[in-house]
Amino acid sequence: MIIKNICCIGAGYVGGPTMTVIANKNPNVKITVVDLNHARINAWNDPDVNNIPIYEPGLSKLVENARGKNLFFSTDVDKAIHEAEMIFISVNTPTKTYGKGKGMAADLKYIELCARQIARIATSDKIVVEKSTLPVRTAQALKAILDHTGNGVKFQILSNPEFLAEGTAVQDLLSPDRVLIGGEQSEEGIEAIQALVDIYASWVPLERILRTNVWSSELSKLTANAFLAQRVSSINAISELCEATGADVDEVSKAIGMDSRIGPKFLKASVGFGGSCFQKDILNLVYIAKTYGLNEVADYWEQVIIMNDHQKGRFADKIVSTLYNTVSGKKIAFLGWAFKKDTNDTRESAAIYVADALLHEQAEITVYDPKVTAEQIYADLDYLNLRSPEENRKYVKVVNDPYEACKAAHAVAILTEWDEFKTYNWKKVYDAVIKPAFLFDGRSILNADQLSAIGFKYTGIGK
Ligand code: NAD
Ligand code: UDX
Repeated sequence: MIIKNICCIGAGYVGGPTMTVIANKNPNVKITVVDLNHARINAWNDPDVNNIPIYEPGLSKLVENARGKNLFFSTDVDKAIHEAEMIFISVNTPTKTYGKGKGMAADLKYIELCARQIARIATSDKIVVEKSTLPVRTAQALKAILDHTGNGVKFQILSNPEFLAEGTAVQDLLSPDRVLIGGEQSEEGIEAIQALVDIYASWVPLERILRTNVWSSELSKLTANAFLAQRVSSINAISELCEATGADVDEVSKAIGMDSRIGPKFLKASVGFGGSCFQKDILNLVYIAKTYGLNEVADYWEQVIIMNDHQKGRFADKIVSTLYNTVSGKKIAFLGWAFKKDTNDTRESAAIYVADALLHEQAEITVYDPKVTAEQIYADLDYLNLRSPEENRKYVKVVNDPYEACKAAHAVAILTEWDEFKTYNWKKVYDAVIKPAFLFDGRSILNADQLSAIGFKYTGIGK
């Protein structure tokens, strides 16, 4: 089966970059990315390609190459579904905030809406690809909805989870460690898998394209994120022990990472992991384990989240205790708000929770982030629903200049590992802050010795 028309529902952090790369690598396939969010689609279509809604290194150039040729962004979901032979579902699957499974289970309402819309519109056979991260066995529910259209259309459901990380999305997509495709083990299923393999094979070596059954594919995605997050929580747990014992967590990371069985990646102690995926996906895994009565399995993975919450809280506590047990009325400068460098995404960013803890102690915060807008920062704080929008705007200021953020601050805190922070004139910052000059490096990116020599009271993670 040769695919000529692809539709992707959801023009977010996954749908946008993934389809842009597929379009660049498959010039003969027409790809339409659709979304209900008009503002987002307008931004993807902005004539100035620098205004696309997602900041990812290298992305705007790829959008420019394909947009208007074989890559289209639209709000006409029905039309795109109707035309496509293959439909990717790439909508958000947040943690449920109500009812059964509140705070743990994935909310699948957007997925179900997509399935019902596909069922309603489709008049020809389609391959439906789960690109969103979903609980294991979701394909069964999708199939049940799609198979009851009554109009004789046949659907094949594939699971093709996305492993890109934000900030490196383009690189990850161009050169993936693997592409995972799960499908039904029937003749039609195998044919559908092959159709998707052919799309990826335009640029991904065949030995990196893995075929599995649907359930293994769905579960592998949750498992991969759980393992990655577990490494961060593991090293963060050790960072606290380092602080108590005089060991240095970066030295410990290096020492253990050189063991080829452990490996060096994902061992950087930090203020805590953030991002839209880790917490949501582990909570989802915990919920699934519980629903199968596997309480020990659930408790084991839940600990990764508990440790992460502890790490975020510990960082805020350290600021308060170091500043003589009070930050009331004191200005704290935040460098960074994004959950990691090279992205404008702030979902679940540790900065939000550290800010909340400090606001609770009546601190005044000034934020500088190279890519995150003031609007987004206030939206994140308002979303907590713990203070009025007026209070958030009164006690949190957002500025466009890092030196202004630090001016007359009682403490400077680094929340994101942006490379530019390493290049600042730290002597100039030192001269502008209130003394003693406290610096809390939540990412351990600065040189502690050099900063101490300037006069800062430097506190890193796990030092
Ligand atoms: P996102 O919120 O950035 O984008 C989802 C988009 O889907 C939104 O723009 C929303 O308006 C749209 N949408 C929702 N329901 C719709 C509907 N019925 N019709 C049309 N559009 C609809 O989310 P994201 O970060 O791109 O994540 C999408 C999925 O991919 C999630 O399941 C996530 O877990 C998974 N994932 C995310 C990442 C990541 O780094 N962000 C990585 C791997 C996997
Ligand atoms: C993650 C997965 O890596 C990716 O495969 C999946 O598709 C989506 O979820 P993402 O959340 O975009 O990607 O970024 P990632 O690089 O994994 O970082 C997540 C968080 O962990 C960030 O807050 C980051 O700062 C933190 N982190 C990561 C650490 O604190 N230490 C590390 O060593 C690595």
